[in-house]
Amino acid sequence: MDVKEIREIIRKELVEGILQTQDFYVVGNWKMYKNKHEVISFLDKVISHDFKEKNHIVIIPPFSYLYLFEERLRYSKIEYGVQNLYPKDEGAYTGEISYRQALDFGARYAIVGHSERRNIFNEDNSLLSEKVSACIKNNIKPIFCIGEDLNKRQNNDYHDFLISQIREGLSLVSGKDLQRVIIAYEPIWAIGTGVNATPAQVEETHMFIRNFLIQEYGDETGKVIPILYGGSVKPANVLELALADGVSGFLIGGASLDADSFIEINNKLN
Ligand code: PGA
Repeated sequence: MDVKEIREIIRKELVEGILQTQDFYVVGNWKMYKNKHEVISFLDKVISHDFKEKNHIVIIPPFSYLYLFEERLRYSKIEYGVQNLYPKDEGAYTGEISYRQALDFGARYAIVGHSERRNIFNEDNSLLSEKVSACIKNNIKPIFCIGEDLNKRQNNDYHDFLISQIREGLSLVSGKDLQRVIIAYEPIWAIGTGVNATPAQVEETHMFIRNFLIQEYGDETGKVIPILYGGSVKPANVLELALADGVSGFLIGGASLDADSFIEINNKLN
């Protein structure tokens, strides 16, 4: 089956209501930004905002502020998670946090394999597969990041690379558990650069990933795994990117740091 056929089938199933699981995610990744005062004023602003029911609104702060999220978002629709975790219950792992500790503060999502973790901290697919598996076993939704660098994009060399990232990263998860994974396609050349992938590039790559997921994990699973896009998403481009086929949401760095811009992005998606 080629990408065009897959697209038609998915569209048809959506229209007919056969495919129910097209949840939409708006996820803010705060990386290593913000101090306590800034976190509180952000939360004060977003708490009173009326986010529409249909989207999942998720913020991923630095670990140190999770307690504020737990304290202040108890009755809010906003969910939150961690930017990383170590796949052990507990132990002598200086500098790491476990999924137990993340859960202790109500975190329900974890970013796994962000390109900054892969490139700056040398995390490879084998370690990442353990992290994904630890998340699934403990009821945390992994947001598993994949994405090629500029060189691979320019040489049109990225398809096999993305496949190997998915295959290896998800190698310890099987069956229905795979349906609890979220994939974030984040081309490295678009992260923090202000240059987003064009809607056409996003559509081509997302449909390619969708096609692969269906071939690899079967219809039932391949069609429902959300595929988010990340890389210089902002209020000005979010709508055209959301209209690209195959986009189930966004992982947003810089533009999620400011409450007004985060709210504006969400308003555009309503
Ligand atoms: P950006 O970051 O939106 O600032 O490009 C995205 C990310 O790193 O997840």
